[in-house]
Order: sequence, then structure tokens, then C-alpha cells
Amino acid sequence: MVVSTSSFVLCPGPAEHPARMGLLALALLLAVRLLSTQASPSPRSFQVDYERNCFLKDGVPFRYISGSIHYARVPRPAWRDRLLKMHMSGLSTVQVYVPWNYHEMLPGVYDFTGNRDLEAFLDLTAELGLLVILRPGPYICAEWEMGGLPAWLLWKPDIILRSSDPAYLAAVDSWLHVLLPKIKPHLYQHGGNIISVQVENEYGSYYACDYGYLRHLLGSFRALLGSEVLLFTTDSTRAEELRCGTLQGLYATIDFGPGSNVTELFDAQRRVEPKGPLVNSEYYTGWLDYWGEAHASTSAAWVAQGLEDILQLGASVNMYMFHGGTNFAYWSGADYKDQYKPVTTSYDYDAPLSEAGDPTEKLFAIRMVISKFQPLPVGPMPPATPKYAYGWVALRKYADLLDVLDVLCPSGPIQSQFPLTFEAIKQAHGFVLYRTQLPRDIPDPATLSAPPHSICDRGYVMLHKEYQGMLERDGQMTLRVTGKAGDTLDMLLENMGRISFGANVSDFKGLLGNVSLDSIPLNNWLIYPLAIDTAVQQGWPHAAMPKSSSRGRAGPAFYTGTFETPGIAWDTFVKFPGWSKGQLWINGFNLGRYWTHRGPQQTLFVPGSVLHVGCPNNITVLELEGAPLTPLLLFLDRPLFNRTLSHSISATE
Ligand SMILES: *[C@@H]1O[C@H](CO)[C@@H](O)[C@H](O)[C@H]1NC(C)=O
Ligand SMILES: *[C@@H]1O[C@H](CO)[C@@H](O)[C@H](O)[C@H]1NC(C)=O
Ligand SMILES: *[C@@H]1O[C@H](CO)[C@@H](O)[C@H](O)[C@H]1NC(C)=O
Ligand SMILES: *[C@@H]1O[C@H](CO)[C@@H](O)[C@H](O)[C@H]1NC(C)=O
Ligand SMILES: *[C@@H]1O[C@H](CO)[C@@H](O)[C@H](O)[C@H]1NC(C)=O
Repeated sequence: MVVSTSSFVLCPGPAEHPARMGLLALALLLAVRLLSTQASPSPRSFQVDYERNCFLKDGVPFRYISGSIHYARVPRPAWRDRLLKMHMSGLSTVQVYVPWNYHEMLPGVYDFTGNRDLEAFLDLTAELGLLVILRPGPYICAEWEMGGLPAWLLWKPDIILRSSDPAYLAAVDSWLHVLLPKIKPHLYQHGGNIISVQVENEYGSYYACDYGYLRHLLGSFRALLGSEVLLFTTDSTRAEELRCGTLQGLYATIDFGPGSNVTELFDAQRRVEPKGPLVNSEYYTGWLDYWGEAHASTSAAWVAQGLEDILQLGASVNMYMFHGGTNFAYWSGADYKDQYKPVTTSYDYDAPLSEAGDPTEKLFAIRMVISKFQPLPVGPMPPATPKYAYGWVALRKYADLLDVLDVLCPSGPIQSQFPLTFEAIKQAHGFVLYRTQLPRDIPDPATLSAPPHSICDRGYVMLHKEYQGMLERDGQMTLRVTGKAGDTLDMLLENMGRISFGANVSDFKGLLGNVSLDSIPLNNWLIYPLAIDTAVQQGWPHAAMPKSSSRGRAGPAFYTGTFETPGIAWDTFVKFPGWSKGQLWINGFNLGRYWTHRGPQQTLFVPGSVLHVGCPNNITVLELEGAPLTPLLLFLDRPLFNRTLSHSISATE
């Protein structure tokens, strides 16, 4: 059914803006409040008013202006600062994803401590007077590794994710039975601040279109959260996606960015939800970056204009993202559009609050728009957090990766005639080393190759411990090598993040097929699952005896160094002049991937909370391809997101 937008009864949001209301409206409102208290004895309620196309909060018409923040992308010591800035921007509400794979790292093993303390985050939002729209998945996309699904689901290789496959549903249900009971006391109806809960995410964009799955989720959410909480879905404005993503019993909302006719876009919601509040659950303030592509940016004026159009219609809106943050460690996801496209470490998103949590011109433009519709909180916007340029820090090579396998893989290798995937050996993230020996003398160059889609995602090749080059998913697929029978052939496989969107979320990692030499498959492999983070968190290699390393600068190797912070540990950004690609840890904290060669991102964000005052900060770099002649890092007081920008300062190298 198509309802023309001219027939909308606009949700006036009188509770937020009494100054604009006439006496008559006030009287009406009071009557409504009385009626609704009679109708529902519960003093706290959050519902849809299908007659007036509004939400009702405690029986009073209400619309929200919300912003997305992902606690998993913000260090816990910064949570309060970011939430306070969101509150001071005029937002009443924050929208929050729960990444399943961040909390259930292994089946039945849960972590809700430290940076993963979801309830502490919710308590902080409540303390700051913010409402919460919770998005617990189980699938979230979010450009997060595997869209938030745990990689261990792929231990059963033929599992059909996001469907009624009993193996998938069993894992989902056992997770929801842990997560949702923690959520229930935080629901608005129970005295908390969660006003609504999303079921799945953009399910209509998934090929399976399995209503049985959505119905199953609806049943589980209702059973575990009760009958009162408002449950909803979010999909794009495309008709086929709204068809597969919506279900009776789940309020249908949509998502779209700036730059189009808002009235026409909301018609898409009206086709599936003829009455009730208009809601854009993801109004895009910017966009993500992929390695190898230009830094995305969206004009502040454009974002502000679209927001004003949305608010003018009386709609509720969530801005995605309001604060993007960082894909620390191995948490960035990837897309598959013609080829595999991994997402950068920075999730700045060109959002109103920058990656480092600083108010931008876009934030002030948005705040100005909000002030036309509801009063802003009294008081100033907290300023940007101070940044510090610690300058140059010298590193030295500690060891080639091949020389420290005893530390990185203390349990020793797995033997297998043919390669096994990461999932088959139960390694979720990071790196696995595959080793075999040349079966014969190769005096003339032979072709080392793997079939298409079998290097996931990058394979660094060493022969007789000498670096030969790299094989890459959807990229270079062959290398020419020579050697002698019995020479050791090593391939270090790197997982660059599992696909987070689309049909290919079953994104296996490692060697998915045979590696061949002149088309003859190599066999008798030793497979080393590497626990690099475990070693680094335990103080390695800083606490270890120095290694003497004679080999050159090419190929996977560890570099170490230290620096001191004068007085206070400020936030900073680290640049990798002349480095190629790798991973950075400071004081055991995994700050994520750098990829200077491909860009656009040229610096990694280092939150001050990982630094120490009064003792040396321990830097560990795993460089995968090749380090510069003089291994130096440069700590700056601002980020460099774009390759083109970096060129202007590379003269300092
Ligand atoms: C948006 O679309 C509606 C309905 O098609 C139309 O009436 C309105 O003029 C359009 N607004 C703008 C700014 O183009
Ligand atoms: C980033 O670099 C590309 C070229 O590599 C350029 O076209 C683009 O304008 C730059 N973007 C920003 C935001 O600087
Ligand atoms: C999934 O990946 C395979 C290759 O691994 C590719 O052939 C196929 O087209 C992809 N499907 C989609 C829907 O992207
Ligand atoms: C690897 O090669 C062996 C021998 O040719 C074959 O049996 C096996 O199926 C191959 N593995 C894959 C994943 O293609
Ligand atoms: C750095 O490593 C040294 C040597 O293991 C250790 O004593 C020190 O505590 C570490 N520093 C930090 C800040 O963790």
C-alpha cells in the first residue's frame, strides 16, 4: 500500500519542544497522557502510535535524534568523553551494535570484561541521560570482521549462515540466551534506557530471504526480552530488500544517506509500514575506507541539509556513524564487489566526531540543525582531546618471523598432506605459517601457484628462508622460484578480515586449495597456527633475550623500540615512513594493521590510554614485506588519512 506523504500527520515531538506548542495541544497532550496511563499501568512505556505516526514514550509523542557509536571501536577510558560529546551535540539517543564474535571468542566461552563490558557501557549512557537503540544482531555487518558472526561457526564448513540451518540456529540461540538476559534489565520498561531493539540487520540484502529464520529470531527475542519491548528491522529503500527483510511483528525502518529527496525515500517505508513513525535507522554522515582507495568524505553542508529535511518531516533518525572509532587488532571487515576489498584500520568514517573523538565542522553543522527542532543541552561542547607529536622513534630488528616459531607456536605444527584452512585448525584471526620442502631440484625457474580464490588473503613466500614475494587474493597468483630438493618452502598466510556483507560471509581463511609447482601439488605440510598476540601480551619480545639477526630487510620480521611520554600520556598518531605493511603493538595492545604502500591511511591512532608515564613504552612491529633502511617511526599530533596527503610530508623521510 502506498500512502502519499502529503497525508502524513507529522509527529510534532511536543514533549521535546513545549515552547512551540499551543495551549490546545498541551491540553490534548495531557489528555493523552492520562488516557495512556489508564490504558497501561506501567509507568514507563515505549510504543508505536499508529494513529499519529509517532513513537509514544510514557504515552507522550516522541521522536528521537540519535547517533551510532560502537563501544568495540572505542577504548573504554574514552567512552564517557565520546558519549558526553554526543549528548552535548543535542542527541537524545545513541544506537549501539553488539558484535557477537567480540564476546564469544570460542563456543561457550564469553568475555564481558574490560573493553568488552557492555553493561558498563550501557550504564554510562544512562548516567549521561541518553536513551539507547540496541542492535544485538546476531548479524550486524558494521564493516566488522564477518559482520559480527564468530569465525568458529565455519568449523562446520557447510553451515548456512543467517538461515534456518539448525547448526546456525543452535549457536544463535545459545548466544541469545547469554546476551539477552543481560539486556532485559536495561530495557526502558524495566527502568533502563533501551527504548528499542533491532532484530538482525539489513536481512533483506541477504540472498537467503528465509522468513523462517526471522520468525525464529522474533520468537527468541520475545521469549527472552518480554512482550513489551519495541522490536524493529532496518533495510535499504529497495523494494526487494524490504520484502525479504521485514516481518509481521517487527516494526520496519529504513536507511539512506544524504543527497536525495527524503520524502520520496520515506515512501519506501510507507509501502511496508503504512502507519507509524518514519524512521531512518542509518543516515550516513560519511563512509568507510578500503585499502587502496581514496579516503571517503561527505560534505558537512550536505549532511546537515539532509538531516534538516528528515527532521522537518517529523521523522526519527539515527546518524551512522556519529563517532566511528578504530578497527583495532584484527576486527576490520571486508566487502566483496568484483573482488575482495578489505576495510582500513581507521573507522573515522568522516563522522561528526573524528576517529580520535574530536568535534568537527560537521558536528557543529548538525548541532545547529538539531537546535532548530529541540533545545540543546546547556553548556559548552567539550574540546578536542590534546594530541602530542612524540616525534621520531628508532626501532631495531629483533628477529625474522621464521626464527621465532618456537615462541609463536609453542605447541608445534600440525602435519597434513595438503593445506588446511584457518577454520580447520581453529585459528580465527592473524597469521598461520605453512611449511613444506621442495620435492626436487629446480635449476630453472618453476611457477609456484595456487588456484583462484585459494590464497586468503595474502601469502608471503620464503624459500630457504629467503623472501621471494607475495601471492594475493584476486591479485598476483604466481611466483617464479628456483631451488634444491629438500629446501624449505614457507608461506605465511594473513587473514585481512572476513567479508562482512553480502552472499560471501562464509569467508574461509588461509590456504583454501593446493599450492603447486609447475602444476604439481606440493604435499607433506607442517602448519603452524601463530599465537603472536599471546606472546606480545606476555611481554615478548621486550622481556626476551636479544636475537642476533643477520638476514636482510625483506620478508616478515619483528622490530622493537621504546619511547617515553613526558608528563601525561596524550593521544598520538604514528606514521610508518618507508615501511610496507604489517601490524603494530604498543605495550601489548594491538593497534591494528598499517599498509603504507597501499594507503589511503598513513597513520594509526594511538589512544593515550595505552601509553604509560614514567617508564618506557614498548613498541613491537611485525613488518611483512620489507622495512626501511633506517627503521624509524614518526609520532604526529594529527592523522594522515590519504596517500596524497602523506606525499607532502614524506620529504622528511
Ligand atoms: C520531493 O519529492 C516530492 C514528491 O515526489 C515532491 O513533491 C517534492 O517537491 C520533492 N522535493 C524536492 C526538494 O525536490
Ligand atoms: C585522496 O587522494 C585521492 C587521490 O589518491 C584524491 O583524489 C582525493 O581527493 C583525496 N581525498 C582527500 C579527502 O584528501
Ligand atoms: C562469492 O565468491 C566467489 C569466489 O570465491 C565468487 O565466484 C562469487 O561470485 C561470489 N558471490 C558473490 C555473490 O559475491
Ligand atoms: C589437493 O591435491 C590432491 C592431490 O591431487 C587432491 O586430492 C586434493 O583434493 C586437492 N585439494 C584441494 C583442496 O583441491
Ligand atoms: C616494557 O618491557 C619491559 C621489559 O620486559 C618491562 O619491564 C616494562 O614493564 C614494559 N613496559 C610497559 C609499559 O609495559
